[in-house]
Amino acid sequence: MSKINTVTVVGAGYMGGGIAQVLALNGFEVQIADVSVEATHEALKRLEREAGEFEEQGLFDPGSAQTIMSNLTAGDSLDDAVSDVDFVMEAVFEDPEVKKEVLARICKSARPDTIIGTNTSTIPVKVLVEAVSNPERFLTVHFSNPAPFIPGVELVAGEATTQEVIDSVKDLLVRAGREGAQVADTPGMALNRLQYALLKEATLIVEQGVASVEDVDTIVRTTFGFRLGFFGPFAIADQAGLPVYAKGYTTLENEFGDRMATPKLLTDAVAAGREGTKNGKGLTGDFDNETKAAVIAYRNKAYSRMGDLLRELGPAPKGS
Ligand SMILES: NC(=O)c1ccc[n+]([C@@H]2O[C@H](COP(=O)([O-])OP(=O)(O)OC[C@H]3O[C@@H](n4cnc5c(N)ncnc54)[C@H](O)[C@@H]3O)[C@@H](O)[C@H]2O)c1
Repeated sequence: MSKINTVTVVGAGYMGGGIAQVLALNGFEVQIADVSVEATHEALKRLEREAGEFEEQGLFDPGSAQTIMSNLTAGDSLDDAVSDVDFVMEAVFEDPEVKKEVLARICKSARPDTIIGTNTSTIPVKVLVEAVSNPERFLTVHFSNPAPFIPGVELVAGEATTQEVIDSVKDLLVRAGREGAQVADTPGMALNRLQYALLKEATLIVEQGVASVEDVDTIVRTTFGFRLGFFGPFAIADQAGLPVYAKGYTTLENEFGDRMATPKLLTDAVAAGREGTKNGKGLTGDFDNETKAAVIAYRNKAYSRMGDLLRELGPAPKGS
């Protein structure tokens, strides 16, 4: 696996700018390149101002803005900026044609071994890879907004992407204090399928007059959403008890039909005697008594601290 130390972010907008900040803050040598030298310099000024504000607001540690600015530079031109770096991160507009044009241009100037990542939220690797030479070095590296503060990054390997390339990017993410999770190359990947499914159901609930927009948001924020920073849906189901979930689906299936039927994974798990943390056999693994107690202690501490944080911050500002 080759270690990434030098990075160029192409497209220094909302996402590209944030990604450049994160990487520069964590010691990578980062260049940015946008549509023109002027636009790139403007972006650098914006990132400097923003980093200073984040530090003043206590969102970045003291000295962070200086670290960022000592590691972050504006490239002279896109071609120049990508010509000799270990990793190029493409973060231009979410338009397959624009992205393909930019990726082809990057490939023309970059070293053949330069790893190239795209920050696309929706376009499959198999579509964009058409514009990439040496496709084994190409993958999706999907940061979330706002990149300076959201730790998770969705990784999508294409058919040709090598494990070595994935490992190099995972290593970069760890060194940048980020957590990568790999998913298959399908439209929407995992993050947006989950996010969009939630919004779709929330919309249906409002349309059917079951609850208002405000009440749906309140329920999500204050109940299961409260847990999601610490546990995913599988871990939450383990803690609730798998038979309870399986029964719950039966009620939903009776009302809403097939789309809410008990998932096979859950039926099979319950049939095999897996009840979640309750009996130490869950969807996320097996739990001995000691681990079970540790999970409960972690959970209680996490939710209590989350409550403190929410009380400290107060409610989010609302539109009129
Ligand atoms: N905004 C989000 O919430 C979000 C979240 C995750 C991923 N993404 C993805 O990140 C990518 C960028 O989105 P964004 O919100 O940062 O957009 P943005 O409009 O803020 O930034 C895009 C930048 O790309 C530059 N650009 C456009 N064409 C270029 C070219 N030919 N060469 C060089 N630079 C060029 C633009 O000048 C602009 O600065 C998209 O693929 C988007 O889907 C966005």
